Amino acid sequence: MLQIQENVSLKNFNSFGIDARARFFVEINKKDELVELFMDPQWQQMPHLILGGGSNMLLLNDYDGLVIRINIRGIEHRISKDDVYVEAGAGEVWNDLVNFCVAREYAGLENLSLIPGSVGASPIQNIGAYGVELKDVFYSCNAFELATGTFKTFTKADCKFEYRESVFKNELKGQYIIVSVKFHLSMIPNFNLKYGAIEQELQNRGITSPTLKDVSQVVSHIRVSKLPDPSTIGNAGSFFKNPIITADEFARVQASFPDVVNYPAGDGLVKLAAGWLIEQCGWKGKVAGNTGTWKNQALVLVNHGGATGAEVYNFSSQIIDSVYTKFGVTLQREVNIIS
Ligand code: FAD
Ligand code: EPU
Repeated sequence: MLQIQENVSLKNFNSFGIDARARFFVEINKKDELVELFMDPQWQQMPHLILGGGSNMLLLNDYDGLVIRINIRGIEHRISKDDVYVEAGAGEVWNDLVNFCVAREYAGLENLSLIPGSVGASPIQNIGAYGVELKDVFYSCNAFELATGTFKTFTKADCKFEYRESVFKNELKGQYIIVSVKFHLSMIPNFNLKYGAIEQELQNRGITSPTLKDVSQVVSHIRVSKLPDPSTIGNAGSFFKNPIITADEFARVQASFPDVVNYPAGDGLVKLAAGWLIEQCGWKGKVAGNTGTWKNQALVLVNHGGATGAEVYNFSSQIIDSVYTKFGVTLQREVNIIS
């Protein structure tokens, strides 16, 4: 029997630590509970918010609807020669899955160590870090379709993964709840150490032939040195995406700012480091009321305590305006804004 709670604080359910409340709140532990929930017209017709770990959202207000927290657990794994297929429930903690695979020497997830949040949210923005994106290891996912009450499997092609984008953030936004994700991993490591800091840190540790565990530990170490821990200071990681611009736009920016940090983004496009743009506008480490940017990473907005969602949002608008004024480049928010 589903337990629907009323007037629930979401403070401990979002990594920004925003003190908002949900009018109704339910936890889903089995996929069939979704069928039961959506058979009831009361819940079917009410606005709803799907919640994993709450580490990529900014709550602007109390949520006047039903918050559905996905807590479907379980990890299954199958080895076929050198290939490994791992299927995890959407409610598994992402980093627990990474540790599960690294411990068994299943290769592929190690560069994605210590990303907060749930397995079920990983396809939503095609999570990525240290030269690897979810799409590189994704096989398929199973999702509940709200309109029909049925389950559907999505292949990699169906998901239309791009940098911090997928079909679930765009044309199918709000239409599906992911209940499990299947990964295609390998028994043969294919190390991706091209992110300079990884090689440097391996060298510092005197490691010349790294194991998956070494890479996982090094990535975790680098992350901890740069990013604030949400359990002590509220944040949702990078608040904006790194902007991708055309070669012509890039030539214009580079003519005035020769040091602009940039990476090739394919098809002649160029990705700029948003953290650099924001730092150049003088925002790094800035405190503005209860919010601000992180002292070691200007791309991360933080809650110094007691910030409201609106305060963080308005601050992010000031950053967008100043980056546009200085560079003529428009930053887009990466974090999901919930109103
Ligand atoms: P939530 O915040 O709960 O939800 C995010 C969005 O997905 C919402 O729109 C929600 O409605 C939807 N959603 C959640 N679960 C489901 C589901 N089962 N079905 C359908 N929709 C769903 N991200 C990166 O890509 N790379 C990083 O390196 C990275 N570093 C981070 C570092 C820190 C310190 C923090 C706080 C965040 C970081 N993030 C990073 C962002 C975040 O970890 C990821 O976006 C993560 O996938 C969010 O998972 P979640 O379960 O917390 O999602
Ligand atoms: N930089 C600055 N000042 C800053 C921050 C960064 O000048 O305050 C410049 C530096 O030159 C640095 C470069 O920007 O070398 C890149 O910085 P970093 O390596 O920290 O990566 P990022 O581009 O800021 C992205 C992801 C992170 C991911 C890291 C590692 C986005 C929006 N962010 O950050 O993802 O962990 O790379 O791969 O793509 C997230 O999505 O929440 C997130 C944390």
